[in-house]
Amino acid sequence: MSQDHTVGISFLGAGNIGSTVISELARLQIDLIGLSGTSIDLRYVLVRSVDREAREAQGFGISGGQITTDVEEIFSDEQTHIVVELMGGEDPAGEYISRSLEAGKHVITANKAVMAASGANLFEIANRNNRHLQFEASVGGGIPIISSLRRDLVANDISSIEAIINGTTNFILSKMSVGDDYESALAEAGRLGYAEPDPSADVDGHDAVAKSIILAMLAFGALIPKDKVVSQGIRSIVSADMQAALELGYTIKLLARIQSTEGQVSASVLPTLVGTTTQLGNVGGVTNAAEYKGDLVGTLFYEGPGAGREATTSAVLADLIEVIRDETVGRKPLPFVLPKSLPIRTPADLSSRFFMRLIVANTPGVLAEISKILAVAGISIASVVQKDILTNSEILEPLPESAQLILTTHVSSRGQIEQATNEFNGSEAVLQIGSVLPISG
Ligand SMILES: NC(=O)c1ccc[n+]([C@@H]2O[C@H](COP(=O)([O-])OP(=O)(O)OC[C@H]3O[C@@H](n4cnc5c(N)ncnc54)[C@H](OP(=O)(O)O)[C@@H]3O)[C@@H](O)[C@H]2O)c1
Repeated sequence: MSQDHTVGISFLGAGNIGSTVISELARLQIDLIGLSGTSIDLRYVLVRSVDREAREAQGFGISGGQITTDVEEIFSDEQTHIVVELMGGEDPAGEYISRSLEAGKHVITANKAVMAASGANLFEIANRNNRHLQFEASVGGGIPIISSLRRDLVANDISSIEAIINGTTNFILSKMSVGDDYESALAEAGRLGYAEPDPSADVDGHDAVAKSIILAMLAFGALIPKDKVVSQGIRSIVSADMQAALELGYTIKLLARIQSTEGQVSASVLPTLVGTTTQLGNVGGVTNAAEYKGDLVGTLFYEGPGAGREATTSAVLADLIEVIRDETVGRKPLPFVLPKSLPIRTPADLSSRFFMRLIVANTPGVLAEISKILAVAGISIASVVQKDILTNSEILEPLPESAQLILTTHVSSRGQIEQATNEFNGSEAVLQIGSVLPISG
């Protein structure tokens, strides 16, 4: 930073979020930084194609800074003190972040893909260069999920985080809980701009897996590889699952669970039954939420907008203000505790209560056979309800030859559940395994 307290900022990317952050810089200058006498110098804005007129016509409002397609200009610019990466994707964003840090620039990013894949490496580079690396917007959009782990809860031993960190799937499941089927809920999410044309990153759980990896690094100092996060998306959830869950007093959420027990860590992203009277069960639409359990603080619950221009801009600007303030007073960044490979609980050892929806033969002795299979696996049944399967004709009539069995279990391991479902597959009593889902709490 120069003697006259001018801080130079360059942007990598000026799309949805980048353009909004840039257009808020003037306000930031007046409201927040102006008080400390610091002025902001917008240096460069990296994009793929430099078509300034088109950008201004789109209302991108980039004024002052030079638009460029040459990232080297930014790395070599001595007047750029802070790089704000808002390009997205793992490549080349990860390389650009690391080169910016090595070039002595602080970095702010909203990029969960990079932080999940290379966070530990980037932490080390930031520490070595004594630079800030801030990424509040990478998980939970506008909710201060990251800063609470890095600062407010740092005195706690965190035992678990349960979180709804994908707004698209929460919107779809919320619509399904009021009667929509999966396809129409997904189509509405697309129409409202909540789902991408290819929704797989959201509905198959990849987005929430990346965010869980980031949370595990911060909460437990644990490096959990992507393939060790037990995950399942929501494509297989049908109206019959939601209906049965609701009748039992639950709804279904794509729940990320990050836990540390007996020296082992685990992370999972699974459609999960959550009580309709709980705080997580009441998180509707695209809203995100996180529940932390810490030994000193007890249970904390955060809820708010997990994406969108304004909410994400709020998180990026909070990071930016912190870095500018620290630069202004010459305060060094808080170094990262480098995450390590810790023992990871095997998927078979993960335990909870479970919900099962089975399509069974409507004949005597079926319940006895299913009970026996569960007993052999050491699974104790908590409740059983038999429901008719209805035809799709205008007058809904039960199909005579099959029925649905809705079971809940006491706490069991995934290993036990897998043993039972393998047996169900070879049993004449079970015609189809509809769904097997964990129950939260
Ligand atoms: N959108 C949200 O609600 C939200 C919420 C939380 C976090 N985030 C994160 O915020 C980041 C930005 O998201 P966004 O929605 O603003 O993305 P976006 O609208 O697709 O914008 C991406 C910007 O980066 C530029 N860019 C991409 N690849 C580039 C490359 N290889 N070289 C140079 N420039 C490149 C693009 O240039 P052109 O303009 O020339 O195409 C564009 O300006 C992502 O990491 C995303 O995950 C977004």
